[in-house]
Amino acid sequence: MKLYDFTRSYALFEEAKRYVPNGIYGPRSPMFLTFGSYPAFIERGDGCRIWDVDGNVYIDYMCSFGTNLLGLRHPKVDAAARAQWDKADCFTLPSDQWVPLAKKLVETLDDSDWCVFAKNGSDVTSYVITVARVATGRQDILLAHGAYHGSHFWCQPHGEGVPEAWKSHVHYFEYNDAADLKRVVAEHRGNIAGIMLTPHRHDAFRDQELPAPEFVAAVNALARQEGFLVLIDDVRCGFRLKLSGSARFYGYEADLGCFGKAMANGYPIAVATGRAELRAAAEKVYFTGTHFFSGVPFAAAIATIDEIRASGAIEKIDRMGRLLMDGLREAAAGEAVRLTGPPAMPFMAFADDPAFEKNRFFCGQAARRGIFFHPHHNWFVCAAITEADIRQTVDVAADCFALTKEKFS
Ligand SMILES: Cc1ncc(COP(=O)(O)O)c(C=O)c1O
Repeated sequence: MKLYDFTRSYALFEEAKRYVPNGIYGPRSPMFLTFGSYPAFIERGDGCRIWDVDGNVYIDYMCSFGTNLLGLRHPKVDAAARAQWDKADCFTLPSDQWVPLAKKLVETLDDSDWCVFAKNGSDVTSYVITVARVATGRQDILLAHGAYHGSHFWCQPHGEGVPEAWKSHVHYFEYNDAADLKRVVAEHRGNIAGIMLTPHRHDAFRDQELPAPEFVAAVNALARQEGFLVLIDDVRCGFRLKLSGSARFYGYEADLGCFGKAMANGYPIAVATGRAELRAAAEKVYFTGTHFFSGVPFAAAIATIDEIRASGAIEKIDRMGRLLMDGLREAAAGEAVRLTGPPAMPFMAFADDPAFEKNRFFCGQAARRGIFFHPHHNWFVCAAITEADIRQTVDVAADCFALTKEKFS
């Protein structure tokens, strides 16, 4: 097999650096993956495949960090979006898609009596902590160490220039550790507005971890006893594990929810949801953005949710994810790997690879052979994938396991 070449991608990357600090920023930077083994720019996509600017094609297991659920260029979603385009996109007031989508979400998602729209996951995680603060009259927010809730100042994990004081009302506990959570709750008793949790642990640079039932029970009980709210950040898992949301899937009694990414199959929209008792608090929070009213993503979201339901996409990605995980376990041929997380969004790591060096090599080799994995972030399976695609993936993986073994033995 001829290995992929990235000449045009890297020439464009050098050019990008002239105009954009770092060329490409965020986790999409090729520096973040395995430099030399991944493209820097993508030209087009279709279904579960993407083509880079050098013409190389990949089966994409990153799905734009989770937005692609039904497949790229999905005909029904794109037709709905196009129909709205034909009427124009962004208005001074909401489009007529506003009410149908709000109604659909409130009827579809658990524990949601109302919803509030935005563009990005960070918009809605910031919004719900503010609603929790208004509702409880308290300031403090509890987060799990290492959990990602977005790029806004109160929760961003990296970067300079954020005054410490802006994060001073955020306190951290160890995920899945009820005793540590109780310790932090006791330390800040009476000041806690809410706890924000991802449905399961899907932090970068580590195995995924499902919540222990004792931990979930402790979260629910402590929130009730101590009078703080449970905020479930379903931005990454939402619409992938269960159509009605992932909170109850794992047993959480959520007061406020956050969704984004997959909800419009790639069109930019996010949504916060909440229980009826929190409506008054929600009405007091200042929240807006110039593009929040753009109608195309609303039309796409309606079509996406309808299609997820009608096509059984969630069952399909679960089934395909299981095939992938089983296939990789087998292809590893004795090499110790850990496959973690729900099949719809699995992750693989090598057992004796704390710095992810083997994984970077393995994933880099896979990328140069047309399989787009990520060495330190969970992957995503989309519903356009077929059993033949999984077989192709596993065949490539078998070669990459052999190369990894050779390199690191
Ligand atoms: C769990 C979770 N919350 C929030 C966010 C932030 O979303 P966005 O990047 O759309 O602002 C992300 C993004 O990866 C996420 O995975």
